[in-house]
Amino acid sequence: MRPGLASAVVVMLCAAALGAPGQAESGDVIRLPEPQRTGAVSVEEALEARRSVRRYASVPLELETIGQLSWAAQGITRPGPGYRTAPSAGATFPIEIDLLIHGLDELETGVYRYLPEEHALRKRFSGDHRSALRWAALRQRQVVDAPVVMVISGVTARTEDRYRGRAERYVYMEAGHVAQNVYLQGVSLGVGTVVIGAFWDAQVSRVLRLEDGEAPLYILPLGKMD
Ligand SMILES: Cc1cc2nc3c(=O)[nH]c(=O)nc-3n(C[C@H](O)[C@H](O)[C@H](O)COP(=O)(O)O)c2cc1C
Repeated sequence: MRPGLASAVVVMLCAAALGAPGQAESGDVIRLPEPQRTGAVSVEEALEARRSVRRYASVPLELETIGQLSWAAQGITRPGPGYRTAPSAGATFPIEIDLLIHGLDELETGVYRYLPEEHALRKRFSGDHRSALRWAALRQRQVVDAPVVMVISGVTARTEDRYRGRAERYVYMEAGHVAQNVYLQGVSLGVGTVVIGAFWDAQVSRVLRLEDGEAPLYILPLGKMD
């Protein structure tokens, strides 16, 4: 295991025993390394360098990097009210982040959900589902070429209680904030991404096994820049 990953411990939700990371079962929670709060790239430099990247080096992304990108997307930066790296209308937090993770020794290939409160991943199910996702995204090649694919989904019902008819647009706006955070964090980590909005909603939902009320909004393939 690489240095810094020692803190990545699998916490069994349903059992008291700790499991080996590579053997995580569905429902297991994998704690992520603490996110970095400082970096070598200024906001201005990241804005200047940000570009949509569709080709990636064929190497996996480390767990630290996956954690950092997840934190940029939805990490909690003020624990009490749960305020996050991205703004949220009325702090209703309708966004969910799923990650298709592939190629890591310490984590079985599969689909994981980011848990902002714990800064952890919850394993949802195993397998490499990038190819099915690629078909759902009009066969866009970058979806299979990336070692990790993030899917941003929205749960409008969380925002609807408060904002009624405006909720849907607010959730779309939030997805944009989240995606831009990932782009900028990616620049600082040497990770490329592109937001994909062209996909069949129902197919993406099926591949991701999303629950009723969870709508896929963006697909972001993530990979080291070539
Ligand atoms: C709402 C939205 C949907 C997009 N969908 C796709 C897509 O399906 N596939 C893709 O390759 N790029 C997609 N893009 C990325 C744009 O093509 C890209 O942002 C544009 O070419 C400008 O390039 P830049 O991001 O490098 O500045 C999308 C961008 C936005 C904002």
